Amino acid sequence: EMSDDERHFQDKVDANIKVEPRDWMPDDYRKTLIRQIGQHAHSEIVGQLPEGNWITRAPTLERKAILLAKVQDEAGHGLYLYCAAETLGVTRDDLTEKLLSGRMKYSSIFNYPTLTWADMGAVGWLVDGAAIMNQVPLQRTSYGPYSRAMVRICKEESFHQRQGYAIMMKMAQGSAAQRKMAQDALNRMWYPSLMMFGPSDKDSVHSAQSMAWKIKINTNDELRQKFVNETVPQAEYLGLTIPDENLKFNEETGNYDFSQPDWDEFFEVLKGNGPCNTDRLNARRKAWDDGAWVREGLLAHAEKRAAAKVA
Ligand code: 3HC
Repeated sequence: EMSDDERHFQDKVDANIKVEPRDWMPDDYRKTLIRQIGQHAHSEIVGQLPEGNWITRAPTLERKAILLAKVQDEAGHGLYLYCAAETLGVTRDDLTEKLLSGRMKYSSIFNYPTLTWADMGAVGWLVDGAAIMNQVPLQRTSYGPYSRAMVRICKEESFHQRQGYAIMMKMAQGSAAQRKMAQDALNRMWYPSLMMFGPSDKDSVHSAQSMAWKIKINTNDELRQKFVNETVPQAEYLGLTIPDENLKFNEETGNYDFSQPDWDEFFEVLKGNGPCNTDRLNARRKAWDDGAWVREGLLAHAEKRAAAKVA
């Protein structure tokens, strides 16, 4: 049975009135938002590592500049999202400590390696493409600060996806060796990209409640299907083959039928046993330790300034 507060809150959500930081909200609404926004922010920051690996190896100065701009954008996305999470009463340090101690997640996709330049194309095309599928509906999420952060982030994501697809076009229409690299990148990134949308709806522990509170607007399977439907023609245009022999357009449903990713692999990656989990967390721990002197200096300076004001 709902309390008056809960009833009033649900009526507001049902009427698509945004929930703002100072409004009353159920504790579990606050908790699941801190979990989702915090992990979304962690995904942006950890997500810089696979592409950062190629900034010094880009094939041309132009490509280097584009990749640098994209990785810089991701840092900004992380900051918008940490700020949105802070409006719920947590600190960025607290969220970072939970990431580094393995108590908070980041998107599974970033635990896969980026082995060739073509991976920069596949990441922009598929990973940012999947992120767009997931983030566009989130612009309508019920929590005001999260919804507004999504509006800003989505504006930049289309550039991320387009620059990746442009790399794939260059490689797919290039030499035989380049075409082979592009196909290899698609082969390795396809199923991990499908995993980005989360477990199938029947295995999703949060979806029902997140849909009722309009935190989640579409189910995991709906968005995964939409991603496949939009991406298959793009692969065909490139002359590349999606590594799924069951992929077939279904005239009745108007959707592509496709093979599910290996969910055992997915849950192994979530447990920390993916190809790059250790490297990614070590890189974030090192960045945190290497930045300590800056944080301490800034705090000491701020205290001195505050003391001077009092005196
Ligand atoms: N990677 C890691 N963990 C995942 C995951 C994935 N791909 N998919 C699901 N999970 C986790 C969930 O976090 C949850 O674990 P938790 O309780 O410890 O948080 C568990 O698996 C069960 O999944 P549910 O479907 O029940 O969980 P959600 O309702 O939270 O749905 C989600 C998962 C669809 C990822 C949802 O949280 C979401 O939409 N998050 C916001 C978007 C986001 O985080 N996208 C990640 C990519 S952002 C990005 O790629 C940056 C871009 O610039 C490239």
